[in-house]
Amino acid sequence: MALLEIREYGKDDVLLKTCKPVKELTPRLKTLIEDMFETMYDADGVGLAAPQVGVLRRICVIDIGEGPVTLINPEVIETSGEQTGNEGCLSVPGKTGIVTRPNYAKVKALNENMEEFIVEGEELMARALLHEIDHLDGHIYTEKVEGKLYDVDTFAEEYEKDQEQAQQ
Ligand code: NI
Repeated sequence: MALLEIREYGKDDVLLKTCKPVKELTPRLKTLIEDMFETMYDADGVGLAAPQVGVLRRICVIDIGEGPVTLINPEVIETSGEQTGNEGCLSVPGKTGIVTRPNYAKVKALNENMEEFIVEGEELMARALLHEIDHLDGHIYTEKVEGKLYDVDTFAEEYEKDQEQAQQ
Protein backbone atom coordinates (compact mmCIF):
# COMPACT_ATOMS: atom_id res chain seq x y z
CA MET A 1 0.00 0.00 0.00
CA ALA A 2 1.09 3.53 -0.58
CA LEU A 3 0.08 7.06 0.22
CA LEU A 4 -0.97 8.94 -2.90
CA GLU A 5 -0.53 12.62 -3.64
CA ILE A 6 -3.79 14.48 -3.11
CA ARG A 7 -4.34 16.97 -5.94
CA GLU A 8 -5.30 20.50 -4.95
CA TYR A 9 -8.10 22.56 -6.42
CA GLY A 10 -6.71 25.51 -8.39
CA LYS A 11 -3.40 23.75 -8.97
CA ASP A 12 -4.48 20.68 -10.91
CA ASP A 13 -7.05 20.58 -13.72
CA VAL A 14 -7.53 16.83 -13.24
CA LEU A 15 -10.12 17.78 -10.59
CA LEU A 16 -12.28 19.54 -13.20
CA LYS A 17 -12.53 16.61 -15.62
CA THR A 18 -15.20 13.95 -16.08
CA CYS A 19 -14.17 10.44 -15.06
CA LYS A 20 -14.64 7.33 -17.18
CA PRO A 21 -16.62 4.31 -15.95
CA VAL A 22 -14.73 1.22 -14.77
CA LYS A 23 -15.38 -1.78 -17.04
CA GLU A 24 -13.06 -4.26 -15.41
CA LEU A 25 -11.44 -4.15 -12.00
CA THR A 26 -7.80 -4.74 -12.87
CA PRO A 27 -5.15 -5.50 -10.20
CA ARG A 28 -3.96 -1.95 -10.73
CA LEU A 29 -7.38 -0.50 -9.88
CA LYS A 30 -7.67 -2.82 -6.84
CA THR A 31 -4.38 -1.44 -5.57
CA LEU A 32 -5.61 2.07 -6.32
CA ILE A 33 -8.66 1.50 -4.09
CA GLU A 34 -6.49 0.22 -1.21
CA ASP A 35 -4.18 3.18 -1.61
CA MET A 36 -7.13 5.59 -1.72
CA PHE A 37 -8.37 4.28 1.65
CA GLU A 38 -4.90 4.56 3.15
CA THR A 39 -4.53 8.10 1.78
CA MET A 40 -7.98 9.15 3.04
CA TYR A 41 -7.40 7.78 6.57
CA ASP A 42 -3.93 9.34 6.70
CA ALA A 43 -5.43 12.74 5.82
CA ASP A 44 -8.32 12.35 8.32
CA GLY A 45 -10.88 12.56 5.53
CA VAL A 46 -14.28 10.85 5.33
CA GLY A 47 -14.23 10.45 1.55
CA LEU A 48 -11.91 10.48 -1.43
CA ALA A 49 -12.57 10.29 -5.17
CA ALA A 50 -10.14 8.90 -7.76
CA PRO A 51 -9.59 12.25 -9.56
CA GLN A 52 -8.31 13.64 -6.26
CA VAL A 53 -5.34 11.32 -6.67
CA GLY A 54 -5.06 12.01 -10.39
CA VAL A 55 -7.00 9.03 -11.77
CA LEU A 56 -9.95 9.78 -14.06
CA ARG A 57 -12.03 6.73 -13.16
CA ARG A 58 -15.46 6.57 -11.52
CA ILE A 59 -14.27 5.29 -8.14
CA CYS A 60 -14.71 6.76 -4.68
CA VAL A 61 -14.14 5.59 -1.13
CA ILE A 62 -16.01 6.72 1.96
CA ASP A 63 -15.75 6.06 5.68
CA ILE A 64 -17.70 8.36 7.96
CA GLY A 65 -16.71 6.22 10.95
CA GLU A 66 -19.15 3.42 10.16
CA GLY A 67 -16.78 1.30 8.08
CA PRO A 68 -15.24 1.51 4.62
CA VAL A 69 -17.47 1.79 1.55
CA THR A 70 -16.07 1.41 -1.96
CA LEU A 71 -18.16 2.84 -4.78
CA ILE A 72 -17.41 1.97 -8.39
CA ASN A 73 -19.48 3.65 -11.14
CA PRO A 74 -21.87 5.12 -8.53
CA GLU A 75 -25.19 6.60 -9.57
CA VAL A 76 -27.50 8.66 -7.39
CA ILE A 77 -30.95 7.10 -7.73
CA GLU A 78 -32.89 9.01 -5.09
CA THR A 79 -32.55 12.05 -2.88
CA SER A 80 -34.90 13.84 -0.51
CA GLY A 81 -35.05 16.52 2.14
CA GLU A 82 -32.50 19.20 2.75
CA GLN A 83 -29.56 19.83 5.08
CA THR A 84 -27.39 22.89 5.43
CA GLY A 85 -24.01 22.59 7.05
CA ASN A 86 -20.25 22.68 6.85
CA GLU A 87 -18.36 20.97 4.13
CA GLY A 88 -14.70 20.54 3.37
CA CYS A 89 -12.55 18.68 0.89
CA LEU A 90 -9.05 17.20 1.02
CA SER A 91 -8.40 18.96 -2.31
CA VAL A 92 -9.21 22.34 -0.76
CA PRO A 93 -7.01 22.10 2.34
CA GLY A 94 -7.63 24.32 5.34
CA LYS A 95 -10.98 25.62 4.05
CA THR A 96 -14.64 25.07 4.84
CA GLY A 97 -17.95 26.47 3.66
CA ILE A 98 -21.68 26.12 4.12
CA VAL A 99 -23.40 23.90 1.57
CA THR A 100 -27.05 22.88 1.28
CA ARG A 101 -27.61 19.35 0.00
CA PRO A 102 -30.35 16.72 0.20
CA ASN A 103 -30.59 15.16 3.67
CA TYR A 104 -31.02 11.68 2.21
CA ALA A 105 -29.35 9.96 -0.70
CA LYS A 106 -29.67 6.51 -2.20
CA VAL A 107 -26.89 5.35 -4.50
CA LYS A 108 -26.43 2.35 -6.75
CA ALA A 109 -22.82 1.26 -7.30
CA LEU A 110 -20.52 -1.70 -7.80
CA ASN A 111 -18.41 -2.98 -4.92
CA GLU A 112 -14.78 -4.17 -5.04
CA ASN A 113 -16.03 -7.48 -6.51
CA MET A 114 -17.90 -5.58 -9.26
CA GLU A 115 -21.23 -6.64 -7.70
CA GLU A 116 -24.08 -4.16 -7.69
CA PHE A 117 -25.23 -2.89 -4.32
CA ILE A 118 -27.29 -0.08 -2.87
CA VAL A 119 -26.01 2.30 -0.23
CA GLU A 120 -28.18 4.91 1.40
CA GLY A 121 -27.65 7.43 4.12
CA GLU A 122 -28.80 10.56 5.83
CA GLU A 123 -26.98 13.65 7.05
CA LEU A 124 -23.18 13.15 6.90
CA MET A 125 -23.42 9.95 4.83
CA ALA A 126 -25.72 11.61 2.28
CA ARG A 127 -23.40 14.61 2.17
CA ALA A 128 -20.32 12.40 1.69
CA LEU A 129 -21.97 10.33 -1.07
CA LEU A 130 -23.10 13.39 -3.02
CA HIS A 131 -19.81 15.28 -2.51
CA GLU A 132 -17.71 12.34 -3.72
CA ILE A 133 -19.94 11.56 -6.70
CA ASP A 134 -19.76 15.25 -7.71
CA HIS A 135 -15.96 14.83 -7.96
CA LEU A 136 -16.44 12.18 -10.67
CA ASP A 137 -18.02 14.83 -12.89
CA GLY A 138 -15.40 17.47 -12.17
CA HIS A 139 -17.45 19.34 -9.56
CA ILE A 140 -15.97 20.74 -6.36
CA TYR A 141 -18.09 21.72 -3.34
CA THR A 142 -16.84 25.31 -3.50
CA GLU A 143 -19.21 25.81 -6.48
CA LYS A 144 -22.10 25.25 -4.09
CA VAL A 145 -20.85 27.24 -1.10
CA GLU A 146 -23.30 29.78 0.28
CA GLY A 147 -21.50 32.94 1.26
CA LYS A 148 -17.76 32.69 1.49
CA LEU A 149 -15.13 30.07 1.94
CA TYR A 150 -13.73 30.21 5.47
CA ASP A 151 -10.45 29.13 6.99
CA VAL A 152 -11.12 26.01 9.07
CA ASP A 153 -9.17 27.43 12.02
CA THR A 154 -11.19 30.65 12.31
CA PHE A 155 -14.53 29.44 10.95
CA ALA A 156 -16.48 29.54 14.22
CA GLU A 157 -15.73 33.16 15.10
CA GLU A 158 -15.77 34.48 11.51
CA TYR A 159 -19.08 32.81 10.73
CA GLU A 160 -20.66 34.19 13.88
CA LYS A 161 -19.44 37.68 12.98
CA ASP A 162 -20.87 37.42 9.45
CA GLN A 163 -24.21 36.20 10.80
CA GLU A 164 -24.41 39.14 13.21
CA GLN A 165 -23.58 41.56 10.41
CA ALA A 166 -26.23 40.04 8.17
CA GLN A 167 -28.85 40.59 10.83
CA GLN A 168 -28.09 44.29 11.23
NI1 NI B 1 -13.82 16.49 -1.95
